[in-house]
Amino acid sequence: MTNTAPGVLAVVESQLSNFGLTPLRAAHELGFHTVLVSNDPDRYRVVGIAEEVFAQHIDEIVVTDTNSADAVAEALGPFHDANRLRGVMTVTDYNIPVVAEVAARFGLPGLTPLAARTCRDKLLMRRACAGAGVATPGFHQATSEEDALLAARRFGYPCVVKPMTESASIGVTLCRTADEVLAAYRDISSAPTDFRGQPRRPGALVEEYLLGFEVSVESVLVDGERQFLGVTDKALGPHPYFVEMGDTFPSMLSEPVRQECTELARRALEAVGHDFGAAHVEVKMTEKGPYVVEVNGRMPGAEITQLIREATGIHLQREVIRLHTGGAADLTRTRERAAASRYLAARTAGVLTEVGGVDLARRVPGVVDVDLEVGPGHRVAPPENNLDLLGHVVAVGDTTGDAVRRAEAALGQLTPVISPTTAPTSGGAR
Ligand SMILES: Nc1ncnc2c1ncn2[C@@H]1O[C@H](COP(=O)(O)OP(=O)(O)OP(=O)(O)O)[C@@H](O)[C@H]1O
Ligand SMILES: [Mg+2]
Repeated sequence: MTNTAPGVLAVVESQLSNFGLTPLRAAHELGFHTVLVSNDPDRYRVVGIAEEVFAQHIDEIVVTDTNSADAVAEALGPFHDANRLRGVMTVTDYNIPVVAEVAARFGLPGLTPLAARTCRDKLLMRRACAGAGVATPGFHQATSEEDALLAARRFGYPCVVKPMTESASIGVTLCRTADEVLAAYRDISSAPTDFRGQPRRPGALVEEYLLGFEVSVESVLVDGERQFLGVTDKALGPHPYFVEMGDTFPSMLSEPVRQECTELARRALEAVGHDFGAAHVEVKMTEKGPYVVEVNGRMPGAEITQLIREATGIHLQREVIRLHTGGAADLTRTRERAAASRYLAARTAGVLTEVGGVDLARRVPGVVDVDLEVGPGHRVAPPENNLDLLGHVVAVGDTTGDAVRRAEAALGQLTPVISPTTAPTSGGAR
């Protein structure tokens, strides 16, 4: 590790996952003085690599109200005034608008605040895409139960009911009946704030259900030109939820299908005004062609940056940090392989006693990572969102097929032992 590159990189909050903390490690390895800005830094202590990252890669912790651009700007003011602040970034959706606002105030690189708000808010994102003629499902911000039912009837069953400003699939529900629409609507609209304590928009989003398979399109804007890194195949868990059970990069789809998805992502990014750095666009391929699920103005989450690195040699986290600190990104591919992640989920509710088979999983050829994000004593349950997952495996191969078979073989070795309890709660840490 070198510490010759001067300056401070501030990371404002993160995802509750190993991935979430790795930008701090990458920034530190680039020589930056790293500052974690958080309203509750201890929330990250539960993450698998927290001990290492807190001990070795976070130089300073600043505690402030990270839901407020004023508070974050004030907290970072001394670094800025001392001419040390080189960049401010986040990889979590909740803080993208605040970070964009702070970057703009300090004249640092970043998304324009309007683009950040549009990417962050699913209603604004839908409006922008629909307004630009980009294929998007029918959507409606329902603000009463009757309104939600009317929208559901208009779109037909099943439909999707979801919050407008969450992440990790929290609260996203497939509703097959009016009762399910009402239950989902009540759940979402009764919570005044989101998972990170920010005010939620009133009501809930009711959407037409996109039937098909899902991919995401990964890209980076470098010198005004959008460079596409590739398409990721996404595996989902059982309905009525949409839990991310695995990712595969590069996609196993044919070139023309990947092209179609990539073209849609390009148009969606233009529609939301995405104008800086990495982007992760989720796309559903339906019988009518590709439709936008979501536009994220940030790096892909889950383990996708690791898959990209294993598959192509591109260290996306490092290159994105370079962009955020005014440097040039190097997206040169140094290898052509494939990588796949698969997630471990509890099949029953209870208290986790142990996860057997970790050594076996590690010994499967091609496996590069086996990581558990929850330990013994943790309450677990079948996942309703990505935060409920127990851990993951990552495997590489010469082809996508090889990587997938290896990841699946590794996942198959892992055996969570769960003792039943009468008070199940979800409990992952992603
Ligand atoms: N209209 C829809 N039709 C079909 N599936 C949908 C629809 N909206 C959402 N989904 C599914 O639910 C998942 C989560 O939805 P969405 O991306 O809107 O929420 P999120 O909380 O931001 O997710 P994440 O942070 O996990 O990407 C999507 O990846 C997709 O599988
Ligand atoms: Mg999404």
